[in-house]
Amino acid sequence: MKAGEIRKKYLDFFEKQGHVIVPSAPLVPENDPTTLFTGSGMQPMLQYFLGTPHPLGKRVTDSQKSFRSQDIEEVGDNRHTTFFEMLGNWSFGDYFKAEQISWMFEFLTKEVGLDPNNLYVTCFRGNDDLEIPRDTFSAEKWQELFSGKGIGAEIADFPEENGMQGARIFYYNEKKNWWSRVGVPGNMPEGEPGGPDTEMFWDFGIERELHEKSQWKDEPCHVNCDCGRFVEIGNNVFMEYVKTASGFEKLPKPNVDFGGGLERLEMAARNNPDIFHIDLFDSALAVLEEESGSKYGANEKQTKAFRVILDHMRAAVFLISDGVTPSNTDQGYVLRRLIRRSVRFADTISHKHKPIDERNILGAIAEAFIQKYKGAYPELITQSDTIINEIEQEEKRFRMTLERGLKEFNKLKGKSLSGADVALLYQTFGFPFELTLEIAGEEGMTIDEEGFRVAMDDHRALSRAGSEKKFKGGLADTTEKTTRLHTAHHLLLKALQMVLGPEVHQRGSNITQERLRIDFNYGSKMTEDQKKQVEGIVNEKIKAGIEVVRTEMALEEAEKLGAEHEFNAKYPERVSVYSVGPIAHPFSLEFCGGPHVGNTNELGHFKIQKEEAVAAGIRRIKAVLE
Ligand code: ALA
Repeated sequence: MKAGEIRKKYLDFFEKQGHVIVPSAPLVPENDPTTLFTGSGMQPMLQYFLGTPHPLGKRVTDSQKSFRSQDIEEVGDNRHTTFFEMLGNWSFGDYFKAEQISWMFEFLTKEVGLDPNNLYVTCFRGNDDLEIPRDTFSAEKWQELFSGKGIGAEIADFPEENGMQGARIFYYNEKKNWWSRVGVPGNMPEGEPGGPDTEMFWDFGIERELHEKSQWKDEPCHVNCDCGRFVEIGNNVFMEYVKTASGFEKLPKPNVDFGGGLERLEMAARNNPDIFHIDLFDSALAVLEEESGSKYGANEKQTKAFRVILDHMRAAVFLISDGVTPSNTDQGYVLRRLIRRSVRFADTISHKHKPIDERNILGAIAEAFIQKYKGAYPELITQSDTIINEIEQEEKRFRMTLERGLKEFNKLKGKSLSGADVALLYQTFGFPFELTLEIAGEEGMTIDEEGFRVAMDDHRALSRAGSEKKFKGGLADTTEKTTRLHTAHHLLLKALQMVLGPEVHQRGSNITQERLRIDFNYGSKMTEDQKKQVEGIVNEKIKAGIEVVRTEMALEEAEKLGAEHEFNAKYPERVSVYSVGPIAHPFSLEFCGGPHVGNTNELGHFKIQKEEAVAAGIRRIKAVLE
């Protein structure tokens, strides 16, 4: 079964169970300053777990584009990718464990046709200190379902110490069977929702005998041991807690957050433990085979190079289609890293001995992905020129400096790299820090990382460090300060359109407690006078004390009213819009999930701090409320 069929079967199945299918949110989160990318299906749904009603009801399902930059280094083995599609279904205070577990069992075994003999599950062991009990309900529910098929399903504890013990259902602690956006209970900030989960694993049966008897690292083989025999194919999170100052409280209503990797489900359906063998990669893989003159899997080095390029280029295609362009900060930096790493790996497999500045293979790989995904993601076709162009330009830019950079690098060989060396490679030759680190590693050299930070231009070093922190995810900040800046952001966009022209639209946004940031399309630097005018309009609207109103309406109606929307975003049939002023004649009207202040007079004095270019035709403003 191919991924496209699994995606469709999943959405149809949950639609039959009363869920409304919603489109994927963009990879770059809207109004969430704490994370650079959407890394799970639940991220765009956060507020609905905390009590805001979803405009489409209590049961929602989708296939969410997800990107996990923390996995870049892991790519190269048979199962890690940075980009993936997460199938998701949610109960916002509606159904709970019994329904979810039964549906999952039915979906996996009947719809996808997986043999239940190769399915294993894990549940939460419970923790007295956290005062969260063992999830015996889920374990027993699974047991009942397996038994119904005549399959033995013993429940066992402490698999980390005692291995499989002939069982099918295992209890693990909160490191494995607890989910929140920031991980284990101890890391959760106050206000963050989370809960125990029950996960499903597929047994590829590789060297089963060996693994049952032998040790994986210093543990016996068990479903979570990471030896590669088992792969997690889905996670049912029972979001019923919220972190408080002293521990946990129950949320007003229990929720379900299911996430399952589409690609991994296809792996299971094919019973092939190599994710790069699924159909979503096949046409891009053919391009690589042609380019390298060798079949995938020829040797270890080639296999890794293929995997890195396939993963990184697919991610790059989707990131660009969501408005990211290569740059030296935030999302743009990650994209740049993906493309530049791909160039380097491509050169290790190419059998075409062209001069370095004449090679250009990434465009063809991107094209293969666009063709493969265009049915499910039509925006790839409308964006196809931009995608190919950005990738080719970045490849070209990098190749121009790569040759010179590698020469410089070779001169430094044999010693450890000082901070100044690394900064030179970065600033003069455009070597992302991680690339230098990698090449150095391959050459057995060390790097003075601390020295590098000192040597680097403060601004750049800071923005990179900032991104790293953000990669790890965090609380969607809904403090008062951030909320005020969010409302100011709406006023600012409208003021920009009034001063610079109605064709100005938002191309990115990021709000922290300290400042707001907006990226927008505009061809030249703003004059001092234009900035003053914009500030003047925003401050006038703040003084006027205008009410901010949230309204739910049909997508069509919101579009008719001309509500401002995110560049390239897709929206469900019912949406939430915020108007500054009455909905019938608002000052500003935007598709938006909130939160916002109730009245503009809560904002204080608005001031633009900086206006600068971030990419061709895109400007960025940073502004504060004083
Ligand atoms: N939110 C859960 C996850 O990402 C389902 O694993």
